[in-house]
Amino acid sequence: MSFLDSRISGFYKLTREERVKRLSEIVGISDSDFAALVDPGKVEMETLDHMIENVVGAMTLPVGIATNFLIDGKDYLIPMAIEEPSVVAAASNAARFARDHGGFTATDTGPLMIGQIQAVDIAKPNEAKREILKAKDKIIELANAQDPVLVRFGGGAKDLRARVIETKVGPMVITELIVDTRDAMGANAVNTMAEAVATMIEKLSGGRVLLRILSNLADQRLVRAKATFDKVLLGGDEVVDGIVAAWAFAEADPYRCATHNKGIMNGIDAVVIATGNDFRAIEAGAHSYAATHGYTSLTKYEKDADGNLVGSIEIPMAVGLIGGATKIHPAARACVKILGVKTAQELGHVVASVGLAQNLAALRALVSEGIQKGHMALHARNIAATAGAKGDMIEVIADQLVKEKNVRAERAKEILDGMVASETKSRAAGAGKKPTR
Ligand code: MEV
Repeated sequence: MSFLDSRISGFYKLTREERVKRLSEIVGISDSDFAALVDPGKVEMETLDHMIENVVGAMTLPVGIATNFLIDGKDYLIPMAIEEPSVVAAASNAARFARDHGGFTATDTGPLMIGQIQAVDIAKPNEAKREILKAKDKIIELANAQDPVLVRFGGGAKDLRARVIETKVGPMVITELIVDTRDAMGANAVNTMAEAVATMIEKLSGGRVLLRILSNLADQRLVRAKATFDKVLLGGDEVVDGIVAAWAFAEADPYRCATHNKGIMNGIDAVVIATGNDFRAIEAGAHSYAATHGYTSLTKYEKDADGNLVGSIEIPMAVGLIGGATKIHPAARACVKILGVKTAQELGHVVASVGLAQNLAALRALVSEGIQKGHMALHARNIAATAGAKGDMIEVIADQLVKEKNVRAERAKEILDGMVASETKSRAAGAGKKPTR
């Protein structure tokens, strides 16, 4: 039993203020830690101004908390930054289906990133490759001299490989540094190393070095997560079989698979963004890995002997906890605190588990009631709020829109106007009454 319990029943029924209070009690973080997250106006413009160029303002996204996650025996409350309704609720639901079967378990290959050095104009590419490989130790030593701190923490360049590739402009020798980036995503460390060894590679190859850059196909930095989802909670044998068939469809057809993997990334990106990580890097890694042997699914499903559904995911996971926006952006820092992860490896396990949960939830909806029902109910709340409804009115108007199967802004406004008019009328009638003694 872990210290925190991520099962908070009825969390979604609380007001936002109540949720914040509940969360800070559970996670035990102070108001000042929370401030940037719960009051985005307070995110110091000064900090943002230095993050990128030509800053004029900020673009905020809602952050919701996914509940019920048990990962590697520990409970997590997971912040997700996303504009799409249903995603947070769906992930929380899927996590609930896995809890009684031990939740999610994850493993990883370690935080190894690849830095590429492209050498061109080489007369004898295979000979050049041999020379580079012979000098492997010297190249690695030079790379590691660039980052003694990383090396002190057990990271640094660990290996080197070289390949000759044929291209439209002739052969090239591609040298790849394999770098253990520890708790960092690692782009800075790897790029610095790749640039530093370029002259040495030129001398060894007799060619000219062009690109020196990290590869986002982080296939040496994989996370594998697995969970057993309860067949009864899923809705029975038919739903379980349906999910396996839906996955098989994605495996066999790239048109379906793009959407299937997009659903996985709904969950993954949301946590990656909330923690200030580079979601483009994660997207590039995920889809290029899925395309390694013809574009296919990042998840797999099968039935176990009891008829429960066993799902798994394998995905590159270049996320970090030090460096970048994770440390600078105050809302990202608050999200990391809520998560309570201590290493990039632990964060990677959480992110992959959310991806699997998200995919399971989408497939379950698709093979049963369809995706629109749940989506529309939440979308209706957005429409009601956009039409100007506040507090309890949002729920009342949303229910009405769904009942009428007319989730449109004009209709929301009509219902709202009607409610406001009748409230004004009854107030006026109340004011006209003689006070009773
Ligand atoms: C929508 O954002 C994601 C889904 O389309 C994923 C899927 O089809 O598996 C529901």
